[in-house]
Amino acid sequence: MNNIYLVGMMGAGKSVTGRHLAELLGRRFIETDQLIEEGTKKTIQKIFEEMGEPAFRKLESGVLKDVSRCQGAVVSLGGGAVRDRENLELIKSTGRMIYLRSKPETLWNRVRGGKERPLLNVAAPFERIKTLLKERAAHYEEADMIVDTDGKSPEAVAEEIRSLVETRARKN
Ligand code: S3P
Repeated sequence: MNNIYLVGMMGAGKSVTGRHLAELLGRRFIETDQLIEEGTKKTIQKIFEEMGEPAFRKLESGVLKDVSRCQGAVVSLGGGAVRDRENLELIKSTGRMIYLRSKPETLWNRVRGGKERPLLNVAAPFERIKTLLKERAAHYEEADMIVDTDGKSPEAVAEEIRSLVETRARKN
């Protein structure tokens, strides 16, 4: 199975980078959060508000199961998808997992001002980013490839991934 899964924290640039990468590789682009919103006809924020985080995580795992049956897609996953061991195993068994790694300061600069991320609608969002990153880092680091995004444009990151993916493909 040859999907490319982009993982990383909120603000890592998974969606924009994923779109560029899909274009560069001539592959289909899929965003799991978007599929969840389309399927429920609710925004992620509304889902958290009305149904709670556990219900959102169930929807996320369900969508991932569907997406994992695709071939050759570039998939941008929500930042928390890797917390679940079954999700992680499914990702690894159906494609390559690429971690877009970013410093908390970079993440904060990219997400500040936005209101669409329920986990950051708290009194101390920067602290929250640091805590979530600590909790998730080990999961993210199980990735096949790690790409640092600090100080880089999404286009540059996508180009870096394209090059890594193609080099590995030649070796295999
Ligand atoms: C989440 C990240 C969000 C979205 C939801 C939860 C998380 O996606 O899935 O708000 O747990 O980190 P992005 O990473 O695309 O912002």
